[in-house]
Formats: sequence, structure tokens, C-alpha cells
Amino acid sequence: MNTIQKSIFPTSTEASKNVAKEISLLIKTNNNAGKQTILGLATGSTPLELYKELVNIHKNQGLSFRNVITFNLDEYYPMNPEDRNSYVHFMNKHLFDYIDIDKDNIHIPDGSVSEDNIDEYCETYEQTIRACGGIDIQLLGIGRSGHVGFNEPGSTRLTRTRLVKLGQITRNDAAPMFSGVEHVPKQAITMGIRSILDTKKIYLLAWGKSKAAIVKKALTDKVTDKIPATFLQEHKNTTVFLDKEAASELVQEQLT
Ligand code: GLP
Repeated sequence: MNTIQKSIFPTSTEASKNVAKEISLLIKTNNNAGKQTILGLATGSTPLELYKELVNIHKNQGLSFRNVITFNLDEYYPMNPEDRNSYVHFMNKHLFDYIDIDKDNIHIPDGSVSEDNIDEYCETYEQTIRACGGIDIQLLGIGRSGHVGFNEPGSTRLTRTRLVKLGQITRNDAAPMFSGVEHVPKQAITMGIRSILDTKKIYLLAWGKSKAAIVKKALTDKVTDKIPATFLQEHKNTTVFLDKEAASELVQEQLT
């Protein structure tokens, strides 16, 4: 059942360039056919080089994002979209401000929606994805707790977009950005495991030694909600892009 493809590169830069090439190829093909491309986007330090490369391809090769629709995985809650720690700010700063995407085609969970309206808001987010025909390529990073998006341990394969509590490891990892763990929001809105497994193709990215242990677990442990990334083993079209360090705990037979 584990059909995850592994693509290992000497450095995260080379890996990111390859992912960017794959994404731009799909966008180009769809643009030529007059079709839209639906991308699922992630935040964190992992996709930074990839976003930089997509901006380069836009600037130097004229790749147009006019027909691209994006859905981000998650956002802190509560979070003002104007806040410098919001994922809205992150995406503008690292990608959207430099490409020709139509702002109406950008979707990021709204961390300022009132608590009373969250369930309805999350349902609408899911419906909007479905109305676009589903996500063509979903990018994922991986947290040290094995989370994807903000699906912390305990998130089952049935989960969809919803409000979740953040775990301590995740909040500690985010502390430097917020100048102290006490300022890190305790909750987030995230697409669920089911929402992620419904996407047509998944690219999971991981770089560096600090991700080696969780990468090994995600790829080789039995599927369990204790390590939400293991659910990717149930997806039919997932490729894991690793640099040498992130792949360093996989033994030879786990590399193919
Ligand atoms: C956050 C994000 C995840 C991301 C993870 C890893 O928790 N919500 O989507 O994958 O951090 O972050 P980094 O890429 O900085 O290691």
C-alpha cells in the first residue's frame, strides 16, 4: 500500500528547483490548454527556496499565474491577516507580491473569523476547493511532531478543515517568530487529513538533519494518527522530496 515516491537531492536548493520545475510545467500545460491550475500551498521555512524559484521562473521565463488558484493549508487562530506573523503576510512576502496571480484566486484560512462562525467558514473553505475541481498539487512540509498542515497527533484520516489546538512542540518551534512561546496562538484553522488525501498529487518536502527522524517514521511506520504524516502512505500519488540530511535515517531498501 505504501506507494510514496522518494526523490532525493544533494541539497534543498536542487530539490526545490526540481519541485518548481514540476509545478511550472503543470501551470504551463494548463495555461496552453486554457485550463486553471489549483495549487495547495504550505508555509514554514521549507518551501521558501521553492517560492523563490517560482518567482524567478515568472520573472525570467514569463510563466503566468493568471490562471492559478491557490488554497493555503492553514492559519493561526486567532490571527489578524495584517499581523506580520500571519500566513497571509508570509505568503504575500514570499510569493504573491511578486507574481501575476489574481488576488481573488488566493484562499488562506481566515484567522479573524468569529468563533461562532468557524464551522460554517471551514465548510465553505472545503466547498470552494471542491467547486474548483479539487487541488492538482498539494505542497506539504512536515512538523517535528509529524504534523502536516496543523494536523497534530490525534488527527484522524476523516478530518477536514477545522479549528484545532496546537501541540507544545509546534508552539515551541514557532516561538522565535513570535518572540516567545507565550505569544504563539494556541489554536489554528487547518485543512484536514481527508482534505489533504483528496488532492490529486502531493509533494512533501523536508530538509535537514532535524527532519530525518520524523521523515523515516512518516515513510516507514505503520499508519497511525499518532504520526499524521503516515496517512500519506494511503495516498496514490505522493512524492517526498528530501535533501541528503533529511534522508539520512532511511536505509537503502527504504530509499526505493
Ligand atoms: C508549521 C506549518 C506547517 C509546516 C511546519 C514545518 O507548523 N503549519 O505547514 O510544515 O510548520 O515548518 P518548517 O518548514 O519551518 O520546518
